[in-house]
Amino acid sequence: MSIDQTPLTGQERLAELDLDQLRQLVGLVEHDGDGDPFPVIGWDAVVWAVGNATQAAHLYQAVWGMELVAYSGPETGNRDHHAYVLRSGAVRFVLTGAVDPASPVADHHRRHGDGIVDIALEVPDVDRCVAHARAQGATVLVEPHDETDAHGTVRSAAIATYGETRHTLVDRSRYTGPYLPGFVARGGVTAGPRLFQALDHVVGNVELGHMDEWVGFYNRVMGFTNMAEFVGEDIATEYSALMSKVVASGDHRVKFPLNEPAIGRKRSQIDEYLEFYGGPGAQHLALATTDILATVDALRERGVEFLSTPESYYSDPQLRARIGHVRVPIEELAARGILVDRDEDGYLLQIFTKPLGDRPTVFFEIIERHGSLGFGAGNFQALFEAIEREQERRGNF
Ligand SMILES: [Fe+2]
Repeated sequence: MSIDQTPLTGQERLAELDLDQLRQLVGLVEHDGDGDPFPVIGWDAVVWAVGNATQAAHLYQAVWGMELVAYSGPETGNRDHHAYVLRSGAVRFVLTGAVDPASPVADHHRRHGDGIVDIALEVPDVDRCVAHARAQGATVLVEPHDETDAHGTVRSAAIATYGETRHTLVDRSRYTGPYLPGFVARGGVTAGPRLFQALDHVVGNVELGHMDEWVGFYNRVMGFTNMAEFVGEDIATEYSALMSKVVASGDHRVKFPLNEPAIGRKRSQIDEYLEFYGGPGAQHLALATTDILATVDALRERGVEFLSTPESYYSDPQLRARIGHVRVPIEELAARGILVDRDEDGYLLQIFTKPLGDRPTVFFEIIERHGSLGFGAGNFQALFEAIEREQERRGNF
């Protein structure tokens, strides 16, 4: 199958994204899907369990510019929890919060804080995927089944992944409703300009020594292939103290970097996540935009806090040599703390938010790709070296 025959997800069509745009936004590549044991069309939804979905839904509209499109709750016969469905471009978030104190959503929130319970994928054939997953040893949490309402039928199932995270597999080819049976269409406050268009990758943090096990899981169960190992061991142990490998669906639409802590000089950020999340879970979502400067400016104006980048990262003469020509002057990037990385295919601009909730766990990355299919590996090294050169200047190295 050539890239031009790659199907679009319902969300992508709704967002009026085409394959060319997706190629730039998320690094879509050509892929012959005929032999896939576990064919995946793309992302379906990221489902969150949060402490207060009603307020979170407001926040994601007012700050993140998302549009409220569907709802389920006591008024629609769901007495267990609220669920608000929001979208921005092809990205769909479902925010769930317990109404009933005995709700499983409340249990999940008690254990993990605000976090991602489900990374749902749209697939053309739920039964085929589940049969393959089961044969490869995956845990099937929900057997394939139909749900129907006036808008048609959705077939879905769910398999377990790391921690208490799951992948619901959804075939919505026979469904025209706003999300799933049981949900009603619902609008909200008028969103401003769209701040992000597509989901690029979702990173999972797993325990020390388990990264390769989960890489193997995605290889076997989903037929995902390995992308570059993006953190060299020396850098990982010295500065960022993590090890990471990336698996991706055939056309790279769905990409899952998997991190495990590495033994470093300091306690690693992955260890901190595992402690406060209470085990493995989704660490960050990378949201793709075509204008990271405008997105970051809008978010900052609305109070979103980003990680700061040392001044030395930008003043370092080696930065210019490393990144070559990019679409904006480095001063524009420096003013916003945006990082740059380049590989043989092109470059990318990226920035990370601080943790989104009360626990130091899940956060967002904003990413603008220009041909690069990477994840910012060079930035680990560049930040590390920039800091060391500063240390050296102070005579402390
Ligand atoms: Fe990332």
